[in-house]
Amino acid sequence: MYKIPANTLFIGKQLVFVPECHSTNSLALQMSQSGTIAEGMVVITDNQFAGRGQRGNTWESAAGMNLTFSVILTPAFLKPTDQYYLTMVTSLALCDFLTTKTGYPVAIKWPNDILVHEKKISGILIENQLQGNRILVAVAGIGFNVNQEYFQNTRAGSLRTVTDKTYELEATLHEILGFLEVRYLQLKQQKFNTLKDEYLSKLYRLGEPHRYSTPEGTFEGIIRGVDDTGKLCVEVDGSLKYFGIKEITFA
Ligand code: BTN
Repeated sequence: MYKIPANTLFIGKQLVFVPECHSTNSLALQMSQSGTIAEGMVVITDNQFAGRGQRGNTWESAAGMNLTFSVILTPAFLKPTDQYYLTMVTSLALCDFLTTKTGYPVAIKWPNDILVHEKKISGILIENQLQGNRILVAVAGIGFNVNQEYFQNTRAGSLRTVTDKTYELEATLHEILGFLEVRYLQLKQQKFNTLKDEYLSKLYRLGEPHRYSTPEGTFEGIIRGVDDTGKLCVEVDGSLKYFGIKEITFA
């Protein structure tokens, strides 16, 4: 499985497939610390049994049904203060792929859930190793539900549940990697405004009044955007408030 290099410039030219592992992000971080790695190397498994998600959550994926992989990047051109752009490019690449494949509207639920018809098809976990004022290594971990039909979580879905078709995993991986490379190169070319505008145009609930929760309680707010550090900007009672990942949940 996953022996053929992707038809790209550098993302997915080197593929490391392990039949099973705890977490491809952990493995990729370990590999990046233990030697020279080529930018774009992909670590992928068929059975990830301790997948990690945002906010200390776990990522569940039925063995052999979906894609669970991590891409090793070395974005020396990016300031640590702009690291949220890595989440933006990864989210946009997954949206590009899903839009092409399904023809349906795709939404990005902040910070990094990719939704089709309100179902979460994919999740992203970016982990960066910083050194001084630069990003030494970034590991972009992607869980993408492809052929799984049944989920314990009623808010989860897959490419199969939204299109009623099954997909070849290796070809699906190659397509996603192609979209990721295009978006990553846009970032490398410093297209910050274009990327941010496109990310915002897909942001779930942008401009709509909805309820949100913080440890202090629930309230009505309107999402107005995301700042460069990745904080969610919500209008509450006429003033703008900024929330980090662990500071707010969608009620
Ligand atoms: C989330 O939705 O909270 C993010 C989920 C990220 C899951 C992927 S699967 C591949 C990579 N390895 C991990 O341990 N996590 C990411």
